[in-house]
Amino acid sequence: PFVKTIFGLSELEEKIRSYFGLSQVVVVAGDSDVSGQTKRELGRAGGQVLRKAMEQGDVIAVTGGTTTAQVANQLSAVAPLKTNWFVPARGGLGESVDYQANTIASTMAKRTGANYRLLHVPDHLGEEAYAPIMQEPNIQDIIEVIRRARIVVHGIGDAMVMARRRKLDEATMQGIEAEGALAEAYGFYFDRSGQVVHKMPTVGLRLEDIVKTEVVIGVAGGKSKGEAIAAVMRFGHNDVLVTDEAAALEIIAII
Ligand code: BG6
Repeated sequence: PFVKTIFGLSELEEKIRSYFGLSQVVVVAGDSDVSGQTKRELGRAGGQVLRKAMEQGDVIAVTGGTTTAQVANQLSAVAPLKTNWFVPARGGLGESVDYQANTIASTMAKRTGANYRLLHVPDHLGEEAYAPIMQEPNIQDIIEVIRRARIVVHGIGDAMVMARRRKLDEATMQGIEAEGALAEAYGFYFDRSGQVVHKMPTVGLRLEDIVKTEVVIGVAGGKSKGEAIAAVMRFGHNDVLVTDEAAALEIIAII
């Protein structure tokens, strides 16, 4: 379409970067909603950004999702990254195994010769289940490591798509829709202005940890995610966004 000729990729990157005050934006060509190749490119670009950001001894917390799975599949290291640790950002959020944060963290570690720790907590924790789980020394240990992460890599989803994928009950679903939820990341739901309107009950990174994290890298693309990506950028704690052309065009159309 003719819009592609109006903005070059680097122009899109700079527009989005300066608007949201990010340190870096990477835009790959295409639309990952319709192209598997674009999604793989997105993953590769995400992996490159991550490798550049990594320093000795870093803990890297990662979320689940099909996009971070692509990052994991393409991550590599020339020499084993023996001092690095990959951990899931948060506990179970109701993803299928292939796309769980635990799986992504372990794949990233195995592919780069780094270390990993997993967080085994059940999905959809009720209030009553939370307290005793937090008393477990093993859980306390890994949560302490997660909260030390210097780098976070996360996906971004459309709120209603993610709510359905996680099989939230009808009442919760209607509730977050009424609150204006537009985007989802880390199990937090955001409205258009980037305010958190709902939190999935699980353990791991809290909002206050994300706010303090040195390098937050969001990886998400596809035309359908443009608005959601903009909402999470408005939350205001990302440093890097890796996206694709179709999402980038949607973003600049609404900012
Ligand atoms: C989830 C992450 O697992 O995947 C979310 O916790 C993210 O942060 C979502 O919104 C995105 O999934 P996908 O498959 O669209 O990359």
